[in-house]
Amino acid sequence: MKLSISKKSNSKILIINHNNKSIPFYSSWLYERSINNDIRDSETGQLLIEASDIENNLKIIDTILSDKKLTIKFSDNTVHNYDLLELLNEISFSQNNDQNKILWNKKNIKIKKFNFHKFNSQMLRNILINIDTHGFAYIKNIPVTKNGLQSLSDHIGPIKRTNWGEIADIKSISNAYDLTMTTRTLENHTDNPYRFPTQGYIFLHCLKNSELGGENSLVDGFNIAQIMKNKNKKDFNLLSSYKTFFRYKDKTTCLENSCSLIELDDNNNVIQVRFNNRTEVLPYDTIKNLKAYRSARKKFWNEITSKKNNLIIKQEPGDMIIIDNYRIFHGRKGYVDKNNSRYFRQGYMDRDILQSKLKLLR
Ligand SMILES: [Fe+2]
Repeated sequence: MKLSISKKSNSKILIINHNNKSIPFYSSWLYERSINNDIRDSETGQLLIEASDIENNLKIIDTILSDKKLTIKFSDNTVHNYDLLELLNEISFSQNNDQNKILWNKKNIKIKKFNFHKFNSQMLRNILINIDTHGFAYIKNIPVTKNGLQSLSDHIGPIKRTNWGEIADIKSISNAYDLTMTTRTLENHTDNPYRFPTQGYIFLHCLKNSELGGENSLVDGFNIAQIMKNKNKKDFNLLSSYKTFFRYKDKTTCLENSCSLIELDDNNNVIQVRFNNRTEVLPYDTIKNLKAYRSARKKFWNEITSKKNNLIIKQEPGDMIIIDNYRIFHGRKGYVDKNNSRYFRQGYMDRDILQSKLKLLR
């Protein structure tokens, strides 16, 4: 690790050479990142000054590096302390280089099954890591009781309350307010793209499955997005830029969201996929635009439904799948259930809640 002050920048930039890369750090940014007690509260790490009051023309006068602890003297005669590794971590955080995702299809996926009878904090950590890397986790032996899913979700955070309540029934009912509540096939989809924000994770707990049919399908949406990018770059660009529209409406609720089927961050990384044939409402547009969108969506759909991408799981009583709703398309095969006893319970969790627990346990 080598440090140098850039003379070209009139001493406003510190260059850190790390892993054969020269990384520039701007003086005012560094000042703001100081861990001195008069700049940041030592307990909370929160800033005690107004950042816009920091001079723009601060010069870096001197630096000392000792055992990963960095000290910088600035032109206002103040001396500030840093943890060098924390500074370097900020770069990967800003660039959002998510190296953790393992893209999968039906052939190469290795399903890890967690046995809840042996649950401990290490297992909780592994469950959350599995959700982060593969987009889902499969847990067996969750108590087969009405709110049994809470025996695990309570270790992570609160279930999200929506207009349908908290933990909800997935059961065929007469006068269904959503097609989930019927015996029909549910084509692969992400849940509730008409909500903003869309719920981050789905806890799907089986209390009883049907004898015939009722299998769940899981598809890695990030892998599908990658396939689209490789095969049809033009269509990938269209799906990540064209704003379609989703709507859910009943007597008391109207939820609407305008969004793309593939969401990218500022660095063009895929951060969310959406598909929901039941609730998509095409926006009014020109024939040319609609034709192009429909054609791209068709190719996307062909990949989503392709057998080679579909993992089929028939959940048994006590089985729970936790699904990343920003990444995984899920579906359900239609079923025959003479006694109408197929019974699942489902809860949602906000994205930041689950990820907060993952960050603490990692
Ligand atoms: Fe769903």
